[in-house]
Amino acid sequence: MARVFVTRKLPGSALDRLAAADHGVELWPGDLPPEPTELRERLADAEGLLCLLTDRVDAELLDAAPRLRAIANLAVGTDNIDLAECERRGIRVGNTPGVLTEATADLAFALILAGARRLLEAADAVRGGEWHTWEPRGWLGQDVHGATLGIIGPGKIGRAVAKRAEGFEMTVIQAGRGTPLRALLTESDFVSLHCPLTDATRGLIGAPEFELMKPTAILVNTARGEIIDQEALRVALVDGTIGGAAIDVTDPEPLPAGHPLLAAPNLTVLPHIGSASVAAREAMAELAVENLLAALAGEPMPNPVR
Ligand code: GLV
Repeated sequence: MARVFVTRKLPGSALDRLAAADHGVELWPGDLPPEPTELRERLADAEGLLCLLTDRVDAELLDAAPRLRAIANLAVGTDNIDLAECERRGIRVGNTPGVLTEATADLAFALILAGARRLLEAADAVRGGEWHTWEPRGWLGQDVHGATLGIIGPGKIGRAVAKRAEGFEMTVIQAGRGTPLRALLTESDFVSLHCPLTDATRGLIGAPEFELMKPTAILVNTARGEIIDQEALRVALVDGTIGGAAIDVTDPEPLPAGHPLLAAPNLTVLPHIGSASVAAREAMAELAVENLLAALAGEPMPNPVR
């Protein structure tokens, strides 16, 4: 029997399986993440950790967790975890790719459509009593069908977005698949980010990249906020360097209500809900628990990161 700490309540019944496996499971009762000091205390004698992208797993935390041997991250991204430190200490790490691909691609496409057709702005106008008549020049947006979509990121989610784009008869170009980033930015009507956050992708889209984009282009981000230089995005929206942005991820998260970015025009911001369908989140919980159970039993994780 191993002691396991789980940093949040999860949807579905995956945690029951963890408890049924005879491990001593401690579940963080809060609706907000444990503070680093609390996390360090809870991990003092834990062998397993099921954590979220909101939990920073760094050397300081690992120093406080001398018995830890398995980490299951409830996310496909692992930028919250210092993987090199885990490797150095022989701690196994798993993530939850695959099961969230379609849900995240659905949301990316929803953001493409919402950005193009100004959906949130128009819906807010109805609620605000600003719908006075059918207006031939009102709420004009851009066509999605037949437009050019640039996808940055080589993985499954980008490919799933590309598949949806085929149905809209879009021209899809993918960075790294024959198209240099510069050409993608110049040619695309929509640019959608699907790369992991790494040292190479941090700040990948900043002022020089916005300059390359069409003044009508819409930037969509369902990956990680830090891939965009957010202050440069704010300036690009205010100056009209690009046409708009529709983003599910920000830097920091949560974005405080009075943050200057929120005053920028033609911007839709969602609270990091890319994988937030019932089915995807339950499957992520199942996979995270399977990763943890396997590692604690000394077997290979179904989805190891390292
Ligand atoms: C969500 O952002 C994830 O990485 O799964």
